[in-house]
Amino acid sequence: MNEADSENIAAAFRRRGYELTDEIKKADAVVVNTCTVRQRAEDKAISQIGRLRVWKEKRPEGKLFVVGCAAQKLGGKAIKNRFPFVDEVVGAKAIEAFEDSLINQLGPSPETETAHQNLFRSPQTAYVTIMRGCSLKCSYCIVPAVRGPAVFLSADAILKDAAAKIKAGAKEIVLLGQTVNAWRQDKTTFSELLEKALALPGLQRLRFMSPHPVYFEDDFTALLAREKKLARYMHLPVQSGSDRILKLMRRGYTRAQYLALLARLRAGAPDLAVSTDFIVGYPGETEEDFQDTLKLVEEGRFTMAYCFKYSPRSDRPEMAATLGEPEIEARLGKLLAAVKTNSRVILNERIGKIEEVLFETETYGRASGNFAVRVKAGGTPGKMAGVLVEKADKNTLNGKLL
Ligand code: 5AD
Ligand code: SF4
Repeated sequence: MNEADSENIAAAFRRRGYELTDEIKKADAVVVNTCTVRQRAEDKAISQIGRLRVWKEKRPEGKLFVVGCAAQKLGGKAIKNRFPFVDEVVGAKAIEAFEDSLINQLGPSPETETAHQNLFRSPQTAYVTIMRGCSLKCSYCIVPAVRGPAVFLSADAILKDAAAKIKAGAKEIVLLGQTVNAWRQDKTTFSELLEKALALPGLQRLRFMSPHPVYFEDDFTALLAREKKLARYMHLPVQSGSDRILKLMRRGYTRAQYLALLARLRAGAPDLAVSTDFIVGYPGETEEDFQDTLKLVEEGRFTMAYCFKYSPRSDRPEMAATLGEPEIEARLGKLLAAVKTNSRVILNERIGKIEEVLFETETYGRASGNFAVRVKAGGTPGKMAGVLVEKADKNTLNGKLL
């Protein structure tokens, strides 16, 4: 979500004739887009802002913007008190109104349209935001507080945005939202929106990120089975393998329900690749709870998993970490090792199979299951081709172009 926001912010600057630069010394303006999902992200944002003091001293006419979730959490006043050289603070809830802050600082935008430019993925993959915020209340999570409740964009606006990005060269669209499959507009379901997007001329593949297990409806399973342009990949955060912890986390499903959902999805799309998120060290997590999480790594057949140490995001005493740092570290280490071993098994199963690869260069592309795929030569950037997998290295499949 932050990457998509950053692209939109960059577009607002580009309309005013600005260009992007990696060299801070050359910059006339700097935007720090912050995250606060875990304390470490917030700390990183704060120290980045601190480091910009030097830039601002050398370039007092330069404009410094601090935006996003940490800006929302800490508040404009606190940030400007601590860092008086910051020109403008725009919290995550007001990110859509970033244009107003730009007008404040730089004046109105000339009415020029600039083509969309990707900043974070290959030029052929474009993000399309379909919802903002989140209306769930997972106990550990700060997102609903900083981004607000779920707000859905209209199907028309979404399809228009996607069509414009395809026209500008995108072959693959990633629909984005904090709980992306919660999207709904009157009677139009998420699956119906996917169907409409799949019908856009020129689109080769459709992805979405990140769904939540409680929002999948039956029509999705059928759509996934039927529509091969819908990526055979899903990042479906589970957080824990222990029913007791899932309940404390207020996730809205049990371990068995999560696994049943995976089984349903895979019944229609047997080659579906699934990755996930885990949190270790949630307050009160026992060794037994943790063992349930470890077992889930194998049972879920995840291709990959992001594993996070629990980070307290509220002042409520019951939400304080209850395990010591060494214990959390030890559990994290075991979990990471289990994920790595399991990923290798899952990746090796792809050997001898044919993957549909969307090439980014002559030798590199991405499979529908989101695996990185390498061939010796012959790929055409922007085109889909079959690759017979011969070898799996770490996170990459190697093979022969068909
Ligand atoms: N501590 C640790 N990890 C967290 N996440 C969200 N909040 C916290 C927290 N307080 C993780 C979840 C989520 C991902 C984006 O970040 O796993 O899926
Ligand atoms: Fe946070 Fe995701 Fe839970 Fe929403 S669904 S509260 S964003 S973890």
